Amino acid sequence: MKGGPQAEMKVNDRLKRVVFGEKELQRRIRELGAEITRDYKAIGGERPPLAVGLLRGVVIFLADLVRAIELPLEFDFITVSSYRAADSPGELVLLKDLVDPVEGRDVLLIEDIVDTGRTLKFIQEAIRARSPRSLRTCCLIDKTPRREVEVQLDYVGFRLEENEFLVGYGLDYAGLYRNLPYIAALKTK
Ligand code: IMP
Ligand code: MG
Repeated sequence: MKGGPQAEMKVNDRLKRVVFGEKELQRRIRELGAEITRDYKAIGGERPPLAVGLLRGVVIFLADLVRAIELPLEFDFITVSSYRAADSPGELVLLKDLVDPVEGRDVLLIEDIVDTGRTLKFIQEAIRARSPRSLRTCCLIDKTPRREVEVQLDYVGFRLEENEFLVGYGLDYAGLYRNLPYIAALKTK
């Protein structure tokens, strides 16, 4: 079998520091859940809110967050991919759309991390074009240094002022590290 303890050590050697520990994540998510519960009780739509998660990074956060929201709700997923040509900025394409229409729904968009803001902006515009009753956005991490476009963020778990690449708790580097129960910064070299 390939891998084993040797490979595991190499993977973990690439972590620089733990940025948000497991307990800190869980505590903050409970707070976000309570805030969202309060707000969505107040807006009182006829149908339950629809949480929309952006695959794949969001799955762990979404799973914890929806269990901290004490209201009936539905959730669905969307996948976006960025195709980068040699010298143009990536063009965003919808790879997997929502199953049900969002017209008239109270949509809560859930994202793991916002960096340049382009991905979130693209999805917010796509959803807004379908006339939801309301649209709010919740992100776990607002990574500010490389922001290129302004995006509306209604609920933010943590703000990161350092330009670090984070992994764990759903966030990946080359497909790995998503299953870490905490968030760490990757070594740059
Ligand atoms: P944006 O369009 O530049 O805001 O990029 C957002 C997307 O890039 C996120 O949905 C993540 O998939 C990915 N991303 C940005 N920063 C990080 C990071 O530090 N770790 C892992 N993924 C990241
Ligand atoms: Mg993502």
